[in-house]
Amino acid sequence: MSNVKILALSGSSRRGSYNTALLQNAQQLAPKNMSIEIYKGLDRLPFYSEDLDGTNLHPEARRLRAEIASADGVLIATPEYNYSLTAILKNALDWASRPSGKHAFVNKPTAIMGASASILGTVRAQLHTRDVLHALQADVLSRPEVLLTQAGSKFDQHGHLTDETATVFLKQLLEGLETKIESQRILTQILRKAVS
Ligand SMILES: Cc1cc2nc3c(=O)[nH]c(=O)nc-3n(C[C@H](O)[C@H](O)[C@H](O)COP(=O)(O)O)c2cc1C
Repeated sequence: MSNVKILALSGSSRRGSYNTALLQNAQQLAPKNMSIEIYKGLDRLPFYSEDLDGTNLHPEARRLRAEIASADGVLIATPEYNYSLTAILKNALDWASRPSGKHAFVNKPTAIMGASASILGTVRAQLHTRDVLHALQADVLSRPEVLLTQAGSKFDQHGHLTDETATVFLKQLLEGLETKIESQRILTQILRKAVS
């Protein structure tokens, strides 16, 4: 497999966030050809307004769009706030979703996971995130579902994931993302050959 560059988005800006910790573990568990960069700055984005878009585009929004465009895939770790994704993540996805139909999420291989304090481990937030990504026309992995329940007890003091099942599913998710990216590349090559 050739090199794969992943942009990771955490839906939490909290110091000590379990979702950011999950992404840091993903960096360690990634397949050997995969590099994962965690985006820093989602909390610098203003709330989306069409007045700030277009020619007067906010610099953080410009950077977010460029980084999504240059990544082969996106990995999202979403917390669950009041049964849904966090405002910070929804806002980032709204910024990324323009210009409509011509933005970098269209067909972008994307994986979702999440960590929460409850026994349901972000299941509702992940479904809502999936709906939003459906509107963005992203190419979202359906399985495995990485739901880190009762996240406060699933990391050691250095932030390493201690839950073996979650570790296995996280590795499978990253492998699935790599396979989806590679499949898209092969399909693109075949189509290019067919029309040349
Ligand atoms: C405003 C708010 C709403 C929350 N709602 C939920 C919820 O609906 N479901 C849930 O499992 N946890 C909920 N939690 C707890 C989060 O799962 C917990 O704060 C978690 O640590 C957030 O992710 P983070 O560690 O990445 O910041 C809520 C927390 C806050 C602050």
